[in-house]
Amino acid sequence: MMMNVLLLSLLPLLTGVCSLKLIPLYTRAGEMVVLRCPQKNDANTNLSWTSQTTQRMNLTSMSGQAADGSQMNVLLQGRSLVILRASLSYQGNYSCSVRNVSSQWFSLIVYEPQSREYAERNQYSTTCYTQESCTLYCPTANIPANDTSKIKSSRITWHKEGTTLPTPIQFPSVLEKDGGIYTCIRSFLYNGQIYNMSFTVVLEIQPSKHGKSKILSPQQNDVFLVDLGSKVVIDCRAVMYSEFDDLFWLSENSFIDTNESLPVFNSYSRTKYIDGIKMAASLVFRDVSKEDLLKKYTCKLETSQQNSSFITISLAEKGPPVFFPNVIVLCMLASGTVVLLILLLLGCYIGGSKFSSCNV
Ligand SMILES: *[C@@H]1O[C@H](CO)[C@@H](O)[C@H](O)[C@H]1NC(C)=O
Ligand SMILES: *[C@@H]1O[C@H](CO)[C@@H](O)[C@H](O)[C@H]1NC(C)=O
Ligand SMILES: *[C@@H]1O[C@H](CO)[C@@H](O)[C@H](O)[C@H]1NC(C)=O
Ligand SMILES: *[C@@H]1O[C@H](CO)[C@@H](O)[C@H](O)[C@H]1NC(C)=O
Ligand SMILES: *[C@@H]1O[C@H](CO)[C@@H](O)[C@H](O)[C@H]1NC(C)=O
Ligand SMILES: *[C@@H]1O[C@H](CO)[C@@H](O)[C@H](O)[C@H]1NC(C)=O
Ligand SMILES: *[C@@H]1O[C@H](CO)[C@@H](O)[C@H](O)[C@H]1NC(C)=O
Ligand SMILES: *[C@@H]1O[C@H](CO)[C@@H](O)[C@H](O)[C@H]1NC(C)=O
Repeated sequence: MMMNVLLLSLLPLLTGVCSLKLIPLYTRAGEMVVLRCPQKNDANTNLSWTSQTTQRMNLTSMSGQAADGSQMNVLLQGRSLVILRASLSYQGNYSCSVRNVSSQWFSLIVYEPQSREYAERNQYSTTCYTQESCTLYCPTANIPANDTSKIKSSRITWHKEGTTLPTPIQFPSVLEKDGGIYTCIRSFLYNGQIYNMSFTVVLEIQPSKHGKSKILSPQQNDVFLVDLGSKVVIDCRAVMYSEFDDLFWLSENSFIDTNESLPVFNSYSRTKYIDGIKMAASLVFRDVSKEDLLKKYTCKLETSQQNSSFITISLAEKGPPVFFPNVIVLCMLASGTVVLLILLLLGCYIGGSKFSSCNV
């Protein structure tokens, strides 16, 4: 009983202590870091900061400018404590208090500029799907808030494997090779100086949620029977999942032109659906010649994601009527007639002379 009362009375105290958990913050030497006192109530008044660091700081009235006018490295504005350029000496614990009541503790760790550990701790992940559009966003975690209005966001630069990339990072149709580790640097302008904050963004590429582009028809080694001198159109149909995929006809490794005045030409149609693109490439023979029968024609699907796929077909002349099937047809006709005659004779036998046709 006493124990319970004791626990109950301790509860608010315990939860109060627990809510003061340390916020870990990571930065790199040379970069800017912002410590922001959480807004518990609307009182912005009597906010004070203390620090336990090797760097001695007077955190009472730092406006960014020292008494002698020189630039200061620590700025107190609104609910934020901004270290414009971190160095190892700023590593340590910080706390903000409202009316002398400790409100939040921070533990700041400052890494060396090239630290791998920093890159790992400060990593953000994003997933995109092959052949779909993909945009990378530079994280906004712990960047200066609107209460530090003197610090203006100036620009974002992206890097991958040591090269600077054009911004923004937008892929209309993302490929597996676009995946990897990106770095974005947010630059801020304060008092005419540039201060940077960097973030690591890991782009993971997963297979498309849709299918793979493929040729639907014709089938490999199909033979199309044609009449010499007639117009022949052979459609190659495919389903695709990217604007950059393409479908076309080749003959003996050369591309078939779309010029409709040529004896053989290619024509296209493309229809977009929500979940894919249907495309047809039509191989048109204005009047099919004997030479056309000697060639092989290849329909090729080129995709950005997988290897190209091919379907090869050929033409053959519709032959003269073939003997064998005709014999079968004649036999069937003959046997049909015989059966009919038997039935008629049977009918005459059973029905006597009711049928005038029987009176032969
Ligand atoms: C800050 O606190 C002091 C004493 O605790 C008090 O006298 C003063 O009015 C407070 N200032 C504001 C702006 O609330
Ligand atoms: C901190 O700075 C304020 C204002 O500049 C000054 O009044 C105060 O004496 C300083 N405190 C210490 C410990 O230097
Ligand atoms: C910061 O706080 C942690 C936990 O209370 C303590 O272990 C550490 O020694 C402190 N660091 C400094 C620089 O005071
Ligand atoms: C606030 O804390 C400081 C140092 O801990 C102390 O000197 C001061 O008297 C306190 N002020 C109030 C109003 O409690
Ligand atoms: C700053 O932004 C927060 C939310 O993003 C908003 O509630 C607050 O009113 C803003 N403060 C100022 C001074 O604009
Ligand atoms: C800030 O980042 C930009 C873009 O990468 C770079 O050109 C500049 O040198 C950096 N400045 C500092 C002070 O680190
Ligand atoms: C199409 O082919 C014809 C005949 O070869 C040629 O005269 C014409 O210039 C071509 N047109 C185009 C647009 O290439
Ligand atoms: C693409 O072609 C290469 C070489 O022909 C082959 O090694 C690879 O496995 C193929 N990839 C796919 C996805 O079919």
